[in-house]
Amino acid sequence: MDKRNKPQSLSVTRISLLIFLMTLIFSSPFAQNPTYFTSFKTGAEWLADDGLPIDCHGGNIIYVDSLQTFFWYGEHYGNPRGAACYSSKDLYNWKNEGVVMTKGNIEIFERPKVIYDEINKRYVMWFHYDGNRYSIAELGVAVSDKPTGPFKLQNHFRPNGHESRDIGLYVDPETKKAYIGYAADHVNRTIRMVELSADYLNVTSNDVDINAHCEGPDILKKNGTFYLFTSGCSGWTPNPGHYYTSTSITGPYVIQGSPFVGDAGDNSFNSQRCYIFKIPGYKNAYLYMGDRWNGSGSPKSQYVFLPITITPGGQMEIHFYREWDLNIFTPEKKK
Ligand code: GAL
Repeated sequence: MDKRNKPQSLSVTRISLLIFLMTLIFSSPFAQNPTYFTSFKTGAEWLADDGLPIDCHGGNIIYVDSLQTFFWYGEHYGNPRGAACYSSKDLYNWKNEGVVMTKGNIEIFERPKVIYDEINKRYVMWFHYDGNRYSIAELGVAVSDKPTGPFKLQNHFRPNGHESRDIGLYVDPETKKAYIGYAADHVNRTIRMVELSADYLNVTSNDVDINAHCEGPDILKKNGTFYLFTSGCSGWTPNPGHYYTSTSITGPYVIQGSPFVGDAGDNSFNSQRCYIFKIPGYKNAYLYMGDRWNGSGSPKSQYVFLPITITPGGQMEIHFYREWDLNIFTPEKKK
């Protein structure tokens, strides 16, 4: 009796194990995601948890310590148009958090960038607010209590009377002062750097022509040096990016050239820069975020994410990888 029962109880155990494993797989956070990512693949299809290509362009990434989560914001070209938000624990796999601010009747809504205001405990989004043929040329600002929105429009204006188009947003980790670098005047004649008010909701009169060209500047600060990274002006077509250095965020800046090493097409590895993200938990880990617009902004525009190196001599370098992961960086020692 015992002997005859054994095979049966073995198969019951196997079936239970199978059911348990299936439940585990289908209840996991990436159940619907056909692909689980363990690396960055330059220009390749990148799907979110909903199985759709990540539609989040020209934006930025922040890390929210209290939630131990990365949030990625950007232009959403699907329906409804506006600012998308995706969240992630590892920078490879992203959950679609939806459109956190709809474009509504704003004709052109580009380059949303979000920062956290530690004092007032709210998230502040700045973006390029524009109208027909980019003629309004303003900054827009919106706020939310939560990283996943909704963000409510507060204001839109020309900073100190200057036309403003592509923008970059930077918080100095030491002073907590925030700055917007903006492609200024007609048409993108120069880049200006403006300091924000302490609540990050307005601009101050500390607004300097930093005599750089010509679009969407990003800032990286290392060992007291500010690295300003810009693209040229060729619309949606990629062009060579350049970097400048200075000991002060408001300049004067000295042009250093292209950081792209071995860039045969001289077009930023076929991308346009949009942000530099300092990756927490690793030493000197900077992420180049670029867009491959493929002719225009669309839900399927691709991403070029590459590691940025600052050499011992202080040069900025970006090398091409078809595929890479965070093991390229040295982890910081846990405190
Ligand atoms: C690019 C700019 C984009 C968009 C585009 C329109 O140069 O970076 O954000 O404004 O021009 O042509």
